[in-house]
Amino acid sequence: MSAFYPYLRMRRGRVAPWMRDMIAEHRLHPSDLIWPIFICEGKGQEEPIGSLPGVSRWSIDHLGKRARQAADLGIPCIALFPNTPNELRTDDAREALNRENLICKAIKAIKDAVPEIGVLTDVALDPYTAHGHDGVTDEAGNVINDETVGILTEQALVQAEAGADIVAPSDMMDGRVAAIRQALENGGHQNVAIMAYAAKYASAFYGPFREAVGSLGRLKGDKRGYQMNPANIEEALREVELDLAEGADFVMVKPGLPYLDVVARVRDAFGVPTFAYQVSGEYAMIEAAAAAGAGDRGALILETLLAFKRAGATGVLTYHAIDAARMIAS
Ligand code: PBG
Repeated sequence: MSAFYPYLRMRRGRVAPWMRDMIAEHRLHPSDLIWPIFICEGKGQEEPIGSLPGVSRWSIDHLGKRARQAADLGIPCIALFPNTPNELRTDDAREALNRENLICKAIKAIKDAVPEIGVLTDVALDPYTAHGHDGVTDEAGNVINDETVGILTEQALVQAEAGADIVAPSDMMDGRVAAIRQALENGGHQNVAIMAYAAKYASAFYGPFREAVGSLGRLKGDKRGYQMNPANIEEALREVELDLAEGADFVMVKPGLPYLDVVARVRDAFGVPTFAYQVSGEYAMIEAAAAAGAGDRGALILETLLAFKRAGATGVLTYHAIDAARMIAS
């Protein structure tokens, strides 16, 4: 230890905006943001989602405009989530494999309108199953691992063939990354990347998302038989290690803010591109806090997103992406 007060004054580094800016250790940039959007059937449709104020489902014809807006703000990638029409939800989730499903149409619409933006698709069956689980179930309602992996692999191929740049398995089945990587290689999709939801927790923060994709009222039981126990972090490291060994290019931790310790450990341990998903319940919490006058909305958004960077996240999936990118630019 060399210097002490009064020779050492930490506040010298905080005297003026330029000084604070000059010595900032982390910065938020629009290229840190991935924007998740919800898609519905129809034409000219914009359906507000009650539990996600400010977020809507859009029909395919809106997507070109939305993608243009994101690209112009410097957002590199959009994540797509479908609200499948009820009559197409079945126990075997076969709509997930339909080459004309909402997701495939959405990928094409975005790629036609804005070829330079990345498209990420979720690999999981919950938007397509009648029971709302991420895979197919046995009689007792348990998700069957290996049979589900077979369907997920086909689903990922269908998405890659429609033009997805990144497939993101969010189902937490064992062995799915290896199966998907092999199928992509064999199918000529060497450049399609896998962002594995490697450490995905069985969280109470997914409620508004389930409303958005229409699986909320359907879900029988919970997802604790496949998503991780919020009590565990060593297990998260094993999940990440396995997904990387199976061929994941990038990994994700989900939810975000309550799991920043996991983000930091994963980034430190593996040094691979590590993304965090600031999930629907976190978005809703920030909006509710701002609406209640508990804090300035913009400041809350930017501070939480910066916290992800400080923890070591490469990027963040956030429903606030457009607003955040606008604020960063202004
Ligand atoms: C589905 C999936 C979920 C989310 C992303 N993909 C929900 C779940 O696992 O039940 C949640 C995202 C959010 O809450 O914003 N496999």
